[in-house]
Amino acid sequence: MKAVHFTSMLVGVGLAQPPPPSFPAPLGSTFTTAGARNVRFDTGTYGPPVEEHHYFYDQWPIGLAVSRQGRVFACYTRGDYRYTLGEVVNRTAEAAYPSQELNTPPGGLVLGEPTAADATHLVSVQALYVTPDDTLWVLDTGRPTVNGSTTAAYAAPGGPKLVAIDLATDAVARTYTFPADVHYPDSYMNDVRFDLRRNASSSSSESGGGGGVAYIVDSSDEGRNGFIVLDLGSGASWRQLDRHPSTLRVAQVVPSYQGLPFYLRQKGRAVDFQQEGLDGAELSLYGDVMYYSPLTSNYLYSIETKYLRANPQEDAGAVQAAFDNVKNLGQRGGNANGFTGDSLGNVYMLMPEHNGIFIYNSTLGRTVPFVRDPRIVWPDSANVGWDGYLYVTVNQLPYQPNWNGGVDGRVHPGLILRARMPDGATKSTVLA
Ligand SMILES: *[C@@H]1O[C@H](CO)[C@@H](O)[C@H](O)[C@H]1NC(C)=O
Ligand SMILES: *[C@@H]1O[C@H](CO)[C@@H](O)[C@H](O)[C@H]1NC(C)=O
Ligand SMILES: *[C@@H]1O[C@H](CO)[C@@H](O)[C@H](O)[C@H]1NC(C)=O
Ligand SMILES: *[C@@H]1O[C@H](CO)[C@@H](O)[C@H](O)[C@H]1NC(C)=O
Repeated sequence: MKAVHFTSMLVGVGLAQPPPPSFPAPLGSTFTTAGARNVRFDTGTYGPPVEEHHYFYDQWPIGLAVSRQGRVFACYTRGDYRYTLGEVVNRTAEAAYPSQELNTPPGGLVLGEPTAADATHLVSVQALYVTPDDTLWVLDTGRPTVNGSTTAAYAAPGGPKLVAIDLATDAVARTYTFPADVHYPDSYMNDVRFDLRRNASSSSSESGGGGGVAYIVDSSDEGRNGFIVLDLGSGASWRQLDRHPSTLRVAQVVPSYQGLPFYLRQKGRAVDFQQEGLDGAELSLYGDVMYYSPLTSNYLYSIETKYLRANPQEDAGAVQAAFDNVKNLGQRGGNANGFTGDSLGNVYMLMPEHNGIFIYNSTLGRTVPFVRDPRIVWPDSANVGWDGYLYVTVNQLPYQPNWNGGVDGRVHPGLILRARMPDGATKSTVLA
């Protein structure tokens, strides 16, 4: 009904259609002009040229990671997809990685036991990351959305896990799981960052010889948001900033995607608001600061990572100390979901309301534009390659059935786009 009204309004005004912007539009400018009177319009485009690197014609992607050798991995949340971790095999296809067997929980993708606690198969992978030691890190939520349900299944210890795959051998090297008081049944691990130099939970071992630390964001739609910190040496894990206001979803937000005000329309449910707490997170160049924000917030926050590494089970003051040291860095110009970072310390923030990517520049203390392109219809996950490109998945998420009244409005292909980063930036190996 709204669409009909909108069309008739356009016809009534009787405007001549401007020609569609041609690609690539003039770089560095979001404007061009057209028509006899030189009428200015927004091309929706600025920044470096955006290249189409890969096309998804089968499963819709979520996360991606690019290895030093240029291997590209993608993950897909389930659903009934055949595999949840894949490797790109050519421009238009991917294959189960490292094997179909690892992607096939014997219990099937049904709620409850045994799949909810399956620590040896990939259930529903949300995020990927490649560290400079050539390890592919695979973050499995253990929470598939099954049988057309609008909510993900609850997890049990074992199912939610962080898996390390050695890219030299394509074999699983390590698997970390989480106790029920660290990963709640309704937690949802959305992204992960690493500092492989540090040991966690010991102030005397701030650097050198550490087993490494992983910082995981819990973006749970059910609302218990925060960081899960994992000591990769001991396997111990704990929560920090649990339900701190800077990690919680913002109530009643109405973002706009492609110029359309967005409300959450789940099948069989009342119209609701966009959800999701803590989502984007990235470390500073030297790993001493974590930048982060909820998906539903316009604000960027930070905390010194020493407060996250402090284990509340060993240090009774650790929870309060972290709460007391959150910094609000102000607004950044819109909602953001995934973050990534480069060798210069730029923090890239994916901006689904703007079909673009912004940079938080900590020297300026401000957000600056990086790239904008009408093909970026929901940038979901970004990854910096050793080749100086920033890679981003585009998956049209606002048109997925679960946000769209049960109707699948997505149109293949999904994309991996890439753009060259500024000033010769590349993958950071400082935290290796
Ligand atoms: C890409 O790989 C798929 C799966 O192996 C294959 O079916 C397809 O023909 C390949 N396409 C090209 C252009 O090589
Ligand atoms: C999903 O549907 C199938 C087929 O109807 C049924 O066997 C299975 O138990 C269902 N799973 C859940 C978790 O409801
Ligand atoms: C860090 O942890 C690892 C593994 O637990 C341990 O072997 C190493 O001695 C620790 N390093 C420091 C500096 O404490
Ligand atoms: C931030 O802005 C400053 C000043 O323009 C510039 O010198 C620097 O390269 C930018 N990037 C980073 C990561 O500081």
